[in-house]
Amino acid sequence: MLPTWNREPGLRVTRASHVVLTGRDLDASEHFYRDVVGLVVTDRTEDTLWLRGLEEASHHSLTIHRSDTARVLRIGMRVDGPEEIDRATAALAALGVESAEVEVPHQGRTLHFTDPSGVDVEFVAEMDVVERRMQAFHEFRSAFPQRFDHYQLVTHDVQKATDFWSDLGFRLAEYTATDGTDELWGSWLEVKGNTHDLVFTNGRGPRLHHWAYTVPDASALIHAADVAGSLGFGDCIDRGPGRHGLSNALFLYMRDPDGHRVELFTTHYQYIDPEVPPIRWDVSHPQRAQLWGMPASERWFFEASEFPDRALCEPLVSSSPQTLEAYLGLH
Ligand SMILES: [Fe+2]
Repeated sequence: MLPTWNREPGLRVTRASHVVLTGRDLDASEHFYRDVVGLVVTDRTEDTLWLRGLEEASHHSLTIHRSDTARVLRIGMRVDGPEEIDRATAALAALGVESAEVEVPHQGRTLHFTDPSGVDVEFVAEMDVVERRMQAFHEFRSAFPQRFDHYQLVTHDVQKATDFWSDLGFRLAEYTATDGTDELWGSWLEVKGNTHDLVFTNGRGPRLHHWAYTVPDASALIHAADVAGSLGFGDCIDRGPGRHGLSNALFLYMRDPDGHRVELFTTHYQYIDPEVPPIRWDVSHPQRAQLWGMPASERWFFEASEFPDRALCEPLVSSSPQTLEAYLGLH
């Protein structure tokens, strides 16, 4: 069932902005994200690494804390100023969701809560401002990642997650449904005016499937694949390069040394005018996930990063896309 878009949700979320992870070896993480992906290292302590894209003026879009286990701790979103934290607290309470204001280094007012599908979220009003590096062309590495764009979560109840975020002002741009129905298998939701900030797909959840950085063009993706190969990280390429039918993204997915998945992509389209309906895809449509080329592997579909202390729930929807293994007739 399609959600109802709440255009006056009582708070202003402006964009998906960052993720917070744990990793087992910060030296390995720094090498991977700086040299193989091409991010800027903003700061590093013994226990924490902060990174950002080349055009980002906010302190971090990726935070990695040292730990014995690799997990995703939070997905982060920006709200439109400090007073929005108060409005967010009230809007969440009206939906029956408890929240708590917390102190986080390099961030202004920050609100923590857990969404109904078990995803741990933080709303951030402000961050320390740092220098954009988008014209430091002599420093560019690998994919030249410019800015954080979105994340994709695996959830057992896509309908419930979609309804909740639609109540908070997110708008459905595209969706995948069980063939011939509007039973949601996946929803692509946006607040910033392109195809998505937040994606939910059907599966064992809650888990973080990936987050994504925008890169300048197709040649940056190919260059990143070459750089990964020449630095000995060729097997970290998880999928692509390829073209999604859904969202029109040209993509390359990589796995970091802890198994977390990052997407590099270009060419999402603008989605602002309110009368334009969402695009619908049957889950079995062969061009849904790849406009050309072969389907993604079972590894891409079924492996994802877990949240600490969140029990995984089995998916409510039984339909599923074709995997590479099924396409090749392996089983
Ligand atoms: Fe993505």
